[in-house]
Amino acid sequence: MKEAKLSQNRSQRLSPIYDPRSYERLDEGDDSLFYSTERFVEHLDSLALNTVEMIIGTLVIEPEPKILDLMAGWDSHIPAHIKPSEVVGLGLNEKELRSNKALSSYVIKDINRDPELPFGEGYFDVVLNTVSVDYLTKPIEVFKEVGRVLKPGGLFLVIFSNRMFPQKAIRMWREATEDERIIIVEEFFKEARLFGETKVFISKGRPRPSDDKYIDMCKFSDPVYAIYAEKLGAPLRRERPEIVIPYLTETRYEAQKTDKQGPLHITCPHCGMPMKKWQVPDNPFCQTWDNDFMYICFNDFCPYFVRGWELMYKQTFQTMSYRCMFNPKNRRFSPIPVPSPNALKEGIVEE
Ligand SMILES: C[S@@+](CC[C@H](N)C(=O)[O-])C[C@H]1O[C@@H](n2cnc3c(N)ncnc32)[C@H](O)[C@@H]1O
Repeated sequence: MKEAKLSQNRSQRLSPIYDPRSYERLDEGDDSLFYSTERFVEHLDSLALNTVEMIIGTLVIEPEPKILDLMAGWDSHIPAHIKPSEVVGLGLNEKELRSNKALSSYVIKDINRDPELPFGEGYFDVVLNTVSVDYLTKPIEVFKEVGRVLKPGGLFLVIFSNRMFPQKAIRMWREATEDERIIIVEEFFKEARLFGETKVFISKGRPRPSDDKYIDMCKFSDPVYAIYAEKLGAPLRRERPEIVIPYLTETRYEAQKTDKQGPLHITCPHCGMPMKKWQVPDNPFCQTWDNDFMYICFNDFCPYFVRGWELMYKQTFQTMSYRCMFNPKNRRFSPIPVPSPNALKEGIVEE
């Protein structure tokens, strides 16, 4: 008993989710006031929004589900093949909610003031929360409420990216890395104590659509993180399908065509782009290399590299990927790990 108390205290000390300061915001003003201005904007680029739809379209397997879109705006991102019997939106801006075509009804309620959800126990099959979890000042209470209004076995799907209204995001979110934000959301699920094991899906490193207004600032599409779990207590567990997002998009193809062609003759076996000559680091503490130069595929849209973010996260719980490397000495291709898209690029040797 004493031991359990001790370990709880330790985890309470270590995790920011137990620190009241984590929930401070730059703008502590009334949320209803902040959201009283309607924002008919896309919160993500079109490829990322497409990914959000595909995630929802894959995971929602209930026939004619009752869906709650928690913190809803003017778009619920529910793909056309899903035929819900009811979609209720809960948010703060009436004009946005009224123009949301997916909704059968809506409720205006500030869940930071009062986290109680105005719905009966076990009413919904699915609760969606898209690009909004960062604004919750009482997330554990809200996650508990989501558990209450979900049927046993029902799905709670939280999707987020790296964009936000910083003045309204909680401090813990603003100060966290993207990896840490996954852990934060997983802790909300765990702490609500009403959900089974959480699963994580990441889409990162895909090309930003060439017609996107931010294309000059960032060539990558907005990352999409999906954390989801089912409410405990279902007599039978259904296996939800694995999320598979195709990465061979037209945009990628366009980007490749305009990519600077290097004079190299070695092409990547995964994307067919020329590999770049790369000088191995001259660092005695680093791994030893059996040649002074390697060839690496630095195509940021190479499917091998794009797919790697998710596979590596599943295996290592870290945001990293790998690029395809060719060793001219043994003439073998192998992966080389990279923690970010720009890693290793300083070693490229122009020929
Ligand atoms: C970035 S928008 C996302 C809207 C929508 N979920 C989407 O994916 O497009 C954040 C939404 O959270 C809602 N929201 C923010 N704070 C809220 C609060 N305290 N209570 C209820 N809803 C809130 C706002 O109404 C707003 O529509």
